Amino acid sequence: VKIFSLGCLALGLVAALLPASEPGDPYVLVLSGDTDGYLSPCGCTKPMSGGIRRRADAVKRLGPEGRTVFIENGGFVAASGRQDELKAEALAESLRLSDVSAINLGPTEAKLGRGLVLSLQRLSGGAFVSGSLRPSPTNEVQPFTHRGPFLIGGISQDADLIAGVLQEASQSHDQAIQSLLDHARLAGLVPVLMVQGPKSLAADLARRHPGLRLVQYRSSGDPPTEPERVGNTLLVTPGENAKHVVRLVYRNGNFEGYLPVRLGPEYHDDPHASRVYTRYQDRVRAEKLLDRLPRVQTAAFAGTEKCGSCHEDAYKTWKESSHAKALLTLEEDNHDADPDCVGCHVVALESTEGFKSRLLTPHLTDVGCESCHGPGLAHALSPKEHALPANAPKSCASCHTPATSPNFDYERYWQQIVHK
Ligand code: HEC
Ligand code: HEC
Ligand code: HEC
Ligand code: HEC
Repeated sequence: VKIFSLGCLALGLVAALLPASEPGDPYVLVLSGDTDGYLSPCGCTKPMSGGIRRRADAVKRLGPEGRTVFIENGGFVAASGRQDELKAEALAESLRLSDVSAINLGPTEAKLGRGLVLSLQRLSGGAFVSGSLRPSPTNEVQPFTHRGPFLIGGISQDADLIAGVLQEASQSHDQAIQSLLDHARLAGLVPVLMVQGPKSLAADLARRHPGLRLVQYRSSGDPPTEPERVGNTLLVTPGENAKHVVRLVYRNGNFEGYLPVRLGPEYHDDPHASRVYTRYQDRVRAEKLLDRLPRVQTAAFAGTEKCGSCHEDAYKTWKESSHAKALLTLEEDNHDADPDCVGCHVVALESTEGFKSRLLTPHLTDVGCESCHGPGLAHALSPKEHALPANAPKSCASCHTPATSPNFDYERYWQQIVHK
């Protein structure tokens, strides 16, 4: 209620209350979004990019304090399990610590349920906006918010889903945008719209509402290197998986200096975001999410040492390979209880007979013989009667994916671990 009507009132005052800045003083606008659960880069590739710790550092360093406006298009997570809830909470909190001005409420947040959305709204410091919800006395999510010279709104392709979850009514894109434009004109602010939807939708909205100055949309891949426009409206996307943010300068009534920023190692882990991230990892561990993964029945495993008792040369080669320290790699980074990571760094996490923990299944730690050769207890007990299937060369691809091992090449990689 109050928030919306107060919002309208405040907007009338805003023009008068704006800080006494020189008209030519620039503002920096930083745009992020579509984290899709990638709170941290997987660490498997070098140089790795992205993650909420680097993003927080970038937001701080990309613009001057007090004149940087940071907005986030939502798309926090890719699913709605318990780990996704924990991720969403960590994201909301880290965005608040980066003084985020507005977060567009999207379908992935809504799918986590009403209770969690309300908790995210609290954790973010009330930053969520959605013009897809019709203003009402019970609706606590504002349609838009103002910061610096901008009036920032958000809409979602899945307005009905969001409205259903929050037990509110939805409104059309056109209604939401008209209201944003009207309020912006009234208060002398620059209308900026975040869209939880693809470029085609953003472009269509920009064509229908030429008063919009900037529209942010969702995309896969990297952000374009050159800015895109429809008429006078700038279209912007940070790309996928929180690997980039986009920086713009607003000066003399115009957006300029379009810059997609890759969150590579030149950005450091921000200490506040790092604390939030560590707490997230600790919650994943404390809730034992790894133990709750679904598993399928398979044949039994012998363990790498047992295989090595007969195949000494193969064992020696394995022991010197990085496969033999794959779990240690995760332990050194507090990721050894993380369902997002462990599956590719041990033997058969997906099997009822597979890895459980270093303590319970010490023989199945790391990427062992049976990660590639398959379950081999029967073979180990009577090698002549039970031959192992000869499909080990096909195993690589399940872990060496384009995302985790972009330079993978079977011949070259096999040469590094060749054994008989
Ligand atoms: C889909 C399988 C897969 C998943 C999931 C995965 N990894 Fe990896 N990881 C790999 C592979 C394969 C490599 C080796 C890549 C290469 O060298 O080409 C690797 C390498 C690494 C390395 C580099 C080790 C070194 O010393 O060079 C780190 C660190 C790492 N992973 C951490 C993680 C973390 C943290 C997660 C979870 C957030 C994770 N991995 C999830 C497959 C995976
Ligand atoms: C008791 C000794 C022994 C153990 C333990 C053992 N193997 Fe073998 N393995 C053999 C022998 C002997 C052969 C040759 C079998 C043949 O020629 O018929 C063999 C053959 C193989 C082959 C060649 C393909 C095939 O099956 O003919 C692979 C691969 C292999 N073993 C992997 C493993 C793995 C993985 C483990 C652990 C799960 C393991 N072995 C455990 C003795 C052993
Ligand atoms: C169960 C998942 C898994 C499978 C299957 C797998 N790998 Fe790996 N591989 C990894 C992980 C994880 C690492 C990184 C380990 C670390 O450093 O902690 C890795 C690292 C490597 C490395 C070292 C890369 C480097 O730059 O240090 C080579 C080489 C390699 N794998 C080859 C292969 C080949 C060839 C296959 C298939 C025959 C294969 N791997 C199958 C998970 C796997
Ligand atoms: C990263 C995956 C991977 C791991 C780990 C691995 N192997 Fe292999 N291994 C292979 C592949 C792939 C081949 C077959 C290469 C080919 O066909 O050219 C192979 C071949 C073999 C062979 C020879 C089979 C033959 O027909 O000549 C034996 C024996 C063997 N491995 C045993 C082991 C043992 C024992 C371990 C653990 C100490 C182990 N391997 C670990 C992937 C792996």
